[in-house]
Amino acid sequence: MSETCLPFIDLQAQQARLGDRIEVAISRVLKHGQYVMGPEVAAIEKELAAFAGVRHAISCASGTDALVMALMAWEIGPGDAVFVPSFSFIATAECVALVGATPMFLDVLPGTFDLDVAGLDSAVAAAKKLGLRPRVVIPVDLFGLPADHLAVAAAASRHDLLILDDAAQGFGGSLDNRRVGCFGHATATSFFPAKPLGCYGDGGAVFTDDDDMAERLVSVRVHGQGCDKYNNVRIGLNARLDTIQAAVLLEKLTVFPEELEARQRIAERYTAALGRCVETPAARPGARSAWAQYTIQVEDREAVVAACKAAGVPTQIYYPIPMHAQTGYAGYPQVPGGCPVSDRLAKRVLSLPMHPYLSETDQDRIIAAVRLAA
Ligand SMILES: Cc1ncc(COP(=O)(O)O)c(C=O)c1O
Repeated sequence: MSETCLPFIDLQAQQARLGDRIEVAISRVLKHGQYVMGPEVAAIEKELAAFAGVRHAISCASGTDALVMALMAWEIGPGDAVFVPSFSFIATAECVALVGATPMFLDVLPGTFDLDVAGLDSAVAAAKKLGLRPRVVIPVDLFGLPADHLAVAAAASRHDLLILDDAAQGFGGSLDNRRVGCFGHATATSFFPAKPLGCYGDGGAVFTDDDDMAERLVSVRVHGQGCDKYNNVRIGLNARLDTIQAAVLLEKLTVFPEELEARQRIAERYTAALGRCVETPAARPGARSAWAQYTIQVEDREAVVAACKAAGVPTQIYYPIPMHAQTGYAGYPQVPGGCPVSDRLAKRVLSLPMHPYLSETDQDRIIAAVRLAA
């Protein structure tokens, strides 16, 4: 083992930069005492909506809640089919199962990891054959790389599907100079600490331009409330974002654009150094990734992991099992032809350390370790 092990994501470096400001912001909340739905919650929602270029950002308790809230607000439930890429974090399908609807797994594209829209027509036909109503498609901006939102929109409109963008990893990215958050009928994101914009616990938000949807989301977030808190017009959740987390996010949002630039520089440096020995990730033309992860593809993953480990370089496998092969989800249908790309990616992907405070010296150490084995 060489020098000390690098962190995979260095939250302490950001803390050293923003810690004083965040402590002041938190103590402000402690002083006013409005821990639930305090003024910082409305303030962060306004800032987030402006950042994404949409009319509404409804904050909530996690990215998973954001996905569930959107489906609940659209009254998706038993008998409904929701089309999801198999290669994603489990919450992308879990939210569908939680509302009693049926997730149908589609495959993904091998270079950009996003939904293979070409499969949507046959998936819709297969869902109908099973007696399901096709209702929603959930593209995922996996690893921060924006999905092919224009292709998704075209295919979804052919089948009258609602689009829920799972941007848990993608918030901060853009496509044709439009920020992620504006592409679906609704977009869900996560503020889990390791996400590009993370808080100090769990948090999330739903973005939408639809005023009526925004109203329903606000209701779903607090027990399906109607005109007041003891008037309940629908089934809902307790899914509010804590005021303290909103205060943290307000501070972090001020440096977010700069951090995104730093991630972009690191990704470019990785790609320049590794592009010839491994398959490197690339955003599609016109797209800018949020670089939640920098995920390479390698033939002999075990060898690369071992070389990195010996050099004190942590790596992660996102994700070792595609969702259609997960025990809890094996009973759900797949697109005709199955998901062979997802199966293959699960064996080949490897995520390298990525955060905005990664020094060039550490980047070089990571690059050298990968090159040694790839
Ligand atoms: C693609 C994707 N969707 C949804 C989620 C769920 O977000 P959370 O952990 O905030 O519930 C995550 C979190 O990792 C994710 O990566």
